[in-house]
Amino acid sequence: MLVCPFLPSEASQVSALIKTTLTKANSKDYPKEVLKHQIEHYSEENILRSSKDKTILLAIEGKEIIGTASIKDNWVSGVFVHPDHMSKGVGKALMERIEAIAKDNGFSTIKLGSSTTAQGFYRKLGYKEIKEIVDEKVGKVIQMEKAL
Ligand SMILES: CC(C)(COP(=O)(O)OP(=O)(O)OC[C@H]1O[C@@H](n2cnc3c(N)ncnc32)[C@H](O)[C@@H]1OP(=O)(O)O)[C@@H](O)C(=O)NCCC(=O)NCCS
Repeated sequence: MLVCPFLPSEASQVSALIKTTLTKANSKDYPKEVLKHQIEHYSEENILRSSKDKTILLAIEGKEIIGTASIKDNWVSGVFVHPDHMSKGVGKALMERIEAIAKDNGFSTIKLGSSTTAQGFYRKLGYKEIKEIVDEKVGKVIQMEKAL
């Protein structure tokens, strides 16, 4: 498995990966309307747009995109691993690279808004809960951070 920078030609595949993960993995924690909003948020067009001001990383196995994570300044977003490739260290490998980028850019803390689904994963990586927000469109989000 390789961790590589995103290329604009991969936006459609990344959008499809996120849709699959949201549908299969996050559906146990979030209602349908929230998932629908999130799937729209990660459309091909929106991924292309956000790639202009975020660093997006991809985990690639063979020719398949199996995971993704993004960072802007010290704020992490868009961390998704394909359900068929979960629990094999893909998410952890992406987060290690994301944290290294933030550190190289001079940040001493790194922050994110976790889904209920991923809270245990981030805890395992050393993130601590700061506060919980319940947004009408995105549902429950747990703000977490870690010292780098
Ligand atoms: C959360 C997610 C990114 C984790 O990716 P992953 O590749 O399955 O995780 P890893 O295999 O790298 O796990 C790293 C460690 O965290 C642990 N872990 C993973 N998910 C966990 C969870 N939900 N609860 C507790 N621990 C978890 C693993 O056991 C592993 O521990 P180890 O290092 O002792 O072996 C992935 O499950 C996912 O895409 N979830 C749905 C989408 C989502 O909610 N994304 C976050 C949006 S904020």
